[in-house]
Amino acid sequence: MDLKETFGNLKRMIQGPRVPIGDRQAIVVAVAAQKGGVGKTTTAVHLAAGIAAFHKRKVLLVDMDAQGHVQMSLSSLLPTQQGESLGGLLLQKHRDIQELAQPTAIEHLWSIPSDRSLNETEAQMASRIGKELLLKQSSKIARSHYDLIVIDCPPNIGTLTLNALVAADAVLVPCDMSVLSLDGVASILETTQTVREMLNPNLQWLGVVRTRLDRRNVMLNRSIVESLRQQYGEKLFGSEICNASAVARAQLAGQTIYNFDPRSAASRAYRILTDEFAQRIGLTTSPPKRA
Ligand SMILES: Nc1ncnc2c1ncn2[C@@H]1O[C@H](COP(=O)(O)OP(=O)(O)OP(=O)(O)O)[C@@H](O)[C@H]1O
Ligand SMILES: [Mg+2]
Repeated sequence: MDLKETFGNLKRMIQGPRVPIGDRQAIVVAVAAQKGGVGKTTTAVHLAAGIAAFHKRKVLLVDMDAQGHVQMSLSSLLPTQQGESLGGLLLQKHRDIQELAQPTAIEHLWSIPSDRSLNETEAQMASRIGKELLLKQSSKIARSHYDLIVIDCPPNIGTLTLNALVAADAVLVPCDMSVLSLDGVASILETTQTVREMLNPNLQWLGVVRTRLDRRNVMLNRSIVESLRQQYGEKLFGSEICNASAVARAQLAGQTIYNFDPRSAASRAYRILTDEFAQRIGLTTSPPKRA
């Protein structure tokens, strides 16, 4: 740590983070899966945007993946100028991620983009005491500004995902309809259990969402759904998301499916999923205010 950084830390220790405390109490949901490409980012983006647009709740979408796919998925709805990086902030004491929150073109939806430097941050975190607690520590003020914070995790169970699980109240696991993805669900659940026992006793498991379903694979889909039902019972979300080219085209255009093609079957499916999600996290009533 150089002299400038030490001075900055000391100044913030006296002054605190540069943002005021808000009057809400967010529920924090991490969207995580060990396997890559199962639809974590697409699910996180559409749940966050859906809760903001249809349930009129104030939502923050945090990208904890260095691939920066949240930014790409919402590129036409986000401000163009890049501010300070999330990774840099996490490594400093007495900072809060709320300092980085940017409004999007969707009313009530705010976002914190990631960048490639998050990979370096993950390496630097390794030498820190309490390295799994950095996001929790620096999201206390952010929690007071939103009704919901959704964290998009990278496709591994490294320090960044652990930070998300420690900062979260609940974890949601997307599962595409493949055997490998089923195995990935079991692994992330094992990690969730370990995090609950050792670092975050409040962490709930919200459930598994079926994503990228190809209706043509009737037999495969049936046996995977049966297996998910047997293993996870009611934790399996009733709604499912099919593969739809409109979703990929919306991403290419930097928009959600709600903006890109609101009348499409995919838009309806994400909206139904959003409603089920809202019910599971208890966000269907009017916004709670702090006492
Ligand atoms: N419902 C869908 N219909 C069609 N394509 C989809 C759908 N959901 C996701 N995709 C596509 O599948 C790919 C992977 O989706 P996504 O990026 O959401 O997965 P991920 O789990 O976040 O991936 P990673 O592990 O790399 O972070 C993307 O190219 C996305 O456009
Ligand atoms: Mg992703």
